[in-house]
Amino acid sequence: MTSSKKENVPVNEPLLSKEAAANVAQAMESRWLSSQGPFVKQFEEDYAKRFGVKYAVTTTSGTSALHLALAALNVGKEDEVIVPAFTMAAVWLAVMYTGAKPVFVDCTPDTYNIDPTQIESKISSRTKAIIVVHIYGHSADMDPILAIAKKNKLKIVEDAAEAHGGEYKGQLCGTMGDIGTFSFMANKIITTGEGGMTITNNEEYADRLRRYKDFCYSPQKRFIHTDVGYNYRMGNLQAAVGCGELANLSKYIEIKEKMAEKYAGLLGNIAGLRLPITLSGVKNVYWMYAILIDDQKFGMNKDALRATLKERGIDTRDFFYPPEEQPFLIDRNLVTEKFPQTDYASKHGLYLPSGLAISDEQIERVAEEIRDIAKK
Ligand SMILES: Cc1ncc(COP(=O)(O)O)c(C=O)c1O
Repeated sequence: MTSSKKENVPVNEPLLSKEAAANVAQAMESRWLSSQGPFVKQFEEDYAKRFGVKYAVTTTSGTSALHLALAALNVGKEDEVIVPAFTMAAVWLAVMYTGAKPVFVDCTPDTYNIDPTQIESKISSRTKAIIVVHIYGHSADMDPILAIAKKNKLKIVEDAAEAHGGEYKGQLCGTMGDIGTFSFMANKIITTGEGGMTITNNEEYADRLRRYKDFCYSPQKRFIHTDVGYNYRMGNLQAAVGCGELANLSKYIEIKEKMAEKYAGLLGNIAGLRLPITLSGVKNVYWMYAILIDDQKFGMNKDALRATLKERGIDTRDFFYPPEEQPFLIDRNLVTEKFPQTDYASKHGLYLPSGLAISDEQIERVAEEIRDIAKK
């Protein structure tokens, strides 16, 4: 079929709740816009409750949440932090902001998450922490990672930017390590436009998260600063949106699960496509519906498929690129090896339109176009 006259299918279209809109109207009415506004406290309280943790501290982004988490764990110049090779670069950057060195570990071929079997060989006397990222909504294999951290006395930051509400053996992503971080950027499962959150059960970390996000003001005297702090304060309008969206998280996860089920039903028997794999014990929240293309079996490589879909009005995205292709890492001699699984995923993977506002008709259209391309 040709679809030149049909509407484009964007890769991500957010769904915003009426609760969020009502909260924003209320915040505007109250004229509270700053981080002192009441929705900020409410968002933190609601978030802590929803995730079953003692403390939640808002930030300006997922990246600042990661930086803040590392600052709270006292990661600094002489330290090394183990990071996934397959991830969004914000993870590596946050480590670099602290002056510490990111040490990369390749991913597993099934879920693209950090490969626990490769972590221990990367631990040195300088290693202070591991950042685990739950990629595309599928939890990393936490049991072996937690065991390695315990054995080697390392802290764990769990980056759940792509996995709000995802679970591993009944535990929510973000709650298994020392500090969990989230992004609320526009394409995330919960959005505030831009924004982030850190969560923890540790009172000392919570205190440090709060102080470092607010310039490390001395509790005794404002404008006296006890350390080099940051301004990572979320404003009241963002928090107003966040409260409304958080109330809809369970509904949003259901939408994602239905989307994945529908894609799987429609794409399941196309040769050369590998659909997302969900391991046993994991609740996958399918932040993005990520597929791998086998060039030979599909008859076309990933780039050609993306380009053909684009011509037909369907927007997709590449997977992340490996560290060995990143100039900012190469220029600083931070990457000295290759990561074959990350490289393979990067060269063969793409993700399909997966936003919360996607309709059944749009999913059917995407699948029909792929089927038609496969036939030809
Ligand atoms: C895994 C991961 N960590 C961190 C971030 C950074 O979040 P933000 O864009 O809110 O800074 C993103 C994406 O944006 C991400 O996918």
